[in-house]
Amino acid sequence: MTKLAFFNDLAARWDAMEDLDALLPKLGEAFVQLGVGRDEIVLDLGCGTGNLTAALLAHLSDEGRVIATDISPAMIALAEQKITDPRVTWLLGDAHRLFWPGAACHRVFAYSVWPHFDDPAQVAREIHRTLMPGGVLHVWHLISRQQVNDIHTHASPAVCDDLLAPPDETAALLAEANFRILHAGESDSDYLVTAQKPAP
Ligand SMILES: C[S@@+](CC[C@H](N)C(=O)[O-])C[C@H]1O[C@@H](n2cnc3c(N)ncnc32)[C@H](O)[C@@H]1O
Repeated sequence: MTKLAFFNDLAARWDAMEDLDALLPKLGEAFVQLGVGRDEIVLDLGCGTGNLTAALLAHLSDEGRVIATDISPAMIALAEQKITDPRVTWLLGDAHRLFWPGAACHRVFAYSVWPHFDDPAQVAREIHRTLMPGGVLHVWHLISRQQVNDIHTHASPAVCDDLLAPPDETAALLAEANFRILHAGESDSDYLVTAQKPAP
């Protein structure tokens, strides 16, 4: 099974695997901690069925916008059915080859997706291109790195090698793509690397 087939197959079961009543308010609180502005244009990279996007929409003002993209047609189709808010643009696409103009967004969330990228250095360069100067990227999980890697190891041969590196390794990869590292850390319940595209 290819990785794409794996995610297409997972789509219909994804929301049942999440406690959305707990997750959405938790994401909303985290957006405040992370300083997500109410009027920002935010890219949700690997948006899945749109749960981070839903939380972003609750946080953003009428001026805010979300660009939500995923490689899986089944994931995007479910997201579009669930969320009809006109502030979202849904795009089917591969994070390695983002196809919109550069300097287009204030912030990128790569939430629960980073280890699935076959060439994270290429994704980092694409994110750097798409961010406005001063914009930030969050590589983020709300479970521990150990849990992420245990899940992937046992989920399917399609994703068993998709292992999350320690935060300092992810930070080094982002620094190579000309990001400034603002934070790199992990705990028993989360993983966060925040990196900024420097302003000129
Ligand atoms: C574990 S799911 C997480 C979905 C969503 N971020 C969430 O937390 O609900 C990973 C998602 O990343 C997507 N994905 C994997 N590789 C991708 C790529 N190269 N480009 C864009 N999306 C990708 C998958 O299709 C899947 O929807």
